[in-house]
Amino acid sequence: MGSAKKFLWLIFALMSSCLEEPSLGESPNVPSGFKAKIYHPGYYTQPSFAHDHFQAMINHSINRLHHFNNALTEEPIGLVLSGDMDYIIELDIGKPPVTYHLNIDTGSHVTWLQHKDCITCIDKTKNAASYDDKSSSTAKEISCYDEECDENNSIECDDYSDRCTYTINYVDGSNSSGIMYLDQFTFLSIDESYVVLENVRFGGAFYCSEGKFHHDIQGVFGLSRNRRSFISQYEFKQFSYCLPDYKNMAEQSPYSNMLFGTEAQLAGNSTAMLPHQEYYVISLNGISVRGIRLELDPSIFKLSNGRGATVIDTGTPVTVIPNKAYNKVVETLVPMIKLPRVFYRNSDKLCFNGGLKDMDKHVPDMTLHFEGLDLHIIPRSLFYVSTDKVNICLAMQPMGYNRKYNIFGAILQQNINIAFDLKENKIFMSPMTCASLI
Ligand SMILES: *[C@@H]1O[C@H](CO)[C@@H](O)[C@H](O)[C@H]1NC(C)=O
Ligand SMILES: *[C@@H]1O[C@H](CO)[C@@H](O)[C@H](O)[C@H]1NC(C)=O
Ligand SMILES: *[C@@H]1O[C@H](CO)[C@@H](O)[C@H](O)[C@H]1NC(C)=O
Ligand SMILES: *[C@@H]1O[C@H](CO)[C@@H](O)[C@H](O)[C@H]1NC(C)=O
Repeated sequence: MGSAKKFLWLIFALMSSCLEEPSLGESPNVPSGFKAKIYHPGYYTQPSFAHDHFQAMINHSINRLHHFNNALTEEPIGLVLSGDMDYIIELDIGKPPVTYHLNIDTGSHVTWLQHKDCITCIDKTKNAASYDDKSSSTAKEISCYDEECDENNSIECDDYSDRCTYTINYVDGSNSSGIMYLDQFTFLSIDESYVVLENVRFGGAFYCSEGKFHHDIQGVFGLSRNRRSFISQYEFKQFSYCLPDYKNMAEQSPYSNMLFGTEAQLAGNSTAMLPHQEYYVISLNGISVRGIRLELDPSIFKLSNGRGATVIDTGTPVTVIPNKAYNKVVETLVPMIKLPRVFYRNSDKLCFNGGLKDMDKHVPDMTLHFEGLDLHIIPRSLFYVSTDKVNICLAMQPMGYNRKYNIFGAILQQNINIAFDLKENKIFMSPMTCASLI
C-alpha cells in the first residue's frame, strides 16, 4: 500500500467514531432467482454534440481495451467508467431502503458506491445519492478477520484503522477506495416484483479521485467472474440480460430485466466460455455481411496464445476487432450502403448521412460466427445513430497493434439475450426484443 494512502486512512481512522466489533451475519432465505430493472442512462442525460459523443464512445472503448490488455498479468484493476454510456441497474440498499443507480460492469468485481461521508467525492455539489451506513439498521462492516477481507482482490485489511477496505485504480488514472460493508439489497423488476438479499458485500467510497468520474456515476455493480464479485457471493450459477435500445435508437420501453439464478433465460445456441479468472471470454471465428462470409483467416481473431479471445463487455460501447477484420468490414459495407458518406476530421470512423429509417433500409445485417454459435446482428445494432439523429456510424473499431482481446461491445449487444451458464461454462446468445422481457 502506498504511503499516501496509508496517511489518508490514518486520518480517516482518527476521524471516524468507534464502531462495534462487526460480525458477518448469516444469509438466510437466499432466493433461487430474481429479476432486476436495467436501462440505458442516455434517457436521462443531455445529449452531447453528435460526433463528439461518438468519438467519446470510441475513446472510452479504447481505454477499456487497454485495460483488458494489461489485465492478464497484473492484479485485477478497475476499468474506466462512463456516466452516460454504461447500462444501469436500479436497486435499493439498506433499511429503510434508499434507491441507487449503479453502472453495470461485467469487467470488474467490486460493487461500490459513494459514501455519505466521502472525503474526496465524485460530486458533492450535485447531491449525488450516497450511502449512509449509520442510517441503515441492516448495515454492518466486514471484519478484518473475515476471509471475505481478502488481500488478493483489491479488498484488504487496513492495519492502521483495522478495517476492511477496498481500493480500485482505474486505467484512466482515476480511483476509488473505502470501507467494505454488508447490507441488504432490494432488487425491483419492471413488473414491480421485488426480492431482498441480505448481507450483500460492497464498498462505500470515502476517496474518489476528484473531477475524474462523470458526475452522473453513483457507483458500480461488479458482475465479473472474479470469486469476489456479486455473482460469486451468492453462488448464482446463471444470469442473463438483454440490453434494451440506446436512447437514440429506441421506439419502445427503455427498460429491461437482468435475470439471476433460476430466473435466467438460457435460450438459443451456446458457445464455450473460455477459462479466465476475471472476464467472460469466448471465441470469435469469422464475420458475415448480408449472409456472405468475409474472406478472413480465422487465426486473426485468435490473439492470445493461439486461443480465441473475445471479451463480452457491457461497459465497452463499441465492438473492437482486429485491424484486418475491420478493414474488410468497411471495404464490404461501403459499396452496399447507398447513403452520402460523412468524413470526420482525423478519424477513421465509418459514418453516413442518415437516420434510423435509412439504417433499416440501407444497412445490411451481420453475422458474428462464434465457436458453435452464429449470432445475427440486425442493422439497428450495427450502427450508432448520432444524438442529433442526422448521421449514423459503424459501432465497430479497429484494435490497433499488439492487442490481446477482441471486445463484443454493448451497442452490438442491444436486443440480444445473453445468458451465462457458469456451471457448464457456456454462453447462450439469441436475438430478442428486450423490452418484451418482463
Ligand atoms: C478522444 O481522444 C483523443 C486522443 O486522446 C482526444 O484528442 C479527443 O479530445 C478525445 N475526444 C473525445 C470526444 O473525448
Ligand atoms: C494471495 O497471493 C499470494 C501470492 O500471489 C498467494 O501466495 C496467496 O495464496 C494468495 N492468497 C489467497 C487468499 O488467494
Ligand atoms: C487517487 O488519485 C488521486 C489523483 O486523482 C491521487 O492523488 C491519489 O493518490 C490516488 N489514490 C490512490 C489510493 O492511489
Ligand atoms: C442453432 O444452430 C443451428 C445450426 O447452425 C441452427 O440451425 C439453429 O437455427 C440454431 N438455433 C437457434 C435457436 O438459433
